[in-house]
Amino acid sequence: MMLIDSGIFNLLILLLILLMIWLICMINHFLIERRRAVKILEMLIGIIEAGNPNLDGHSLHVHNLCMLMYEFLPYPCKLTIRPGDLHYASLLLDVGKLGIPSDILQKSGKLGNSEWEIVRKHPELALDILKGVPGMERIYSYILYHHERIDGKGYHQLTGDQIPLGARIIAIADTYSAITMNRSYKAYLSYVEAVAELKTVAGSQLDAKLVKAFCNIPMNKVDACLDDVRAKMERFYEDRKGAE
Ligand SMILES: [Fe+2]
Repeated sequence: MMLIDSGIFNLLILLLILLMIWLICMINHFLIERRRAVKILEMLIGIIEAGNPNLDGHSLHVHNLCMLMYEFLPYPCKLTIRPGDLHYASLLLDVGKLGIPSDILQKSGKLGNSEWEIVRKHPELALDILKGVPGMERIYSYILYHHERIDGKGYHQLTGDQIPLGARIIAIADTYSAITMNRSYKAYLSYVEAVAELKTVAGSQLDAKLVKAFCNIPMNKVDACLDDVRAKMERFYEDRKGAE
């Protein structure tokens, strides 16, 4: 049996160590870059929403809830979704509302049919806005289908697993956030009341397995998502006031 010369062996080990250091540096660099991009996006979305009493941190809340859900996703479901895609899609889910007249978005009463038709276009409008941003194609379907329902009665009538996993996760976070945040047309409900509502629509509006996974997350972690948003929004309101 031929033995490798100890000099060559040491050289190979050294090369392997250098390769590992390079890989760790690359991964670290990628993670720092992504964290920076997510923080910038969060800040911009937060400042935009600070001017609208009916959004008021909603996208930031959906983002926090989605990333929390990702942490608690069961395997192998977790392996089928990239956390980076979920970061961007959950922050940008309602960016299409920038294209909707503010008198509709900020209306305190019920929307009429024609107004609803306009609001329902916001997923398509979001895709128009994101068109041309490299790498965003992967999250188009998450944004486009975040208002689908499991029973097929959503915006595009997709059913069950036809709806991408990312869109099904966002739909739960979006629904929970809408229930637990204050709006000009309704008061907020507590965690317990919101979870009861989610369970009621599990299997018809929302993915039942994902609702179950969401309900298994400790309440303090779910509540912390909103506390974080409130603290950030206070800062964004100050920034906005300072700029006016
Ligand atoms: Fe939406």
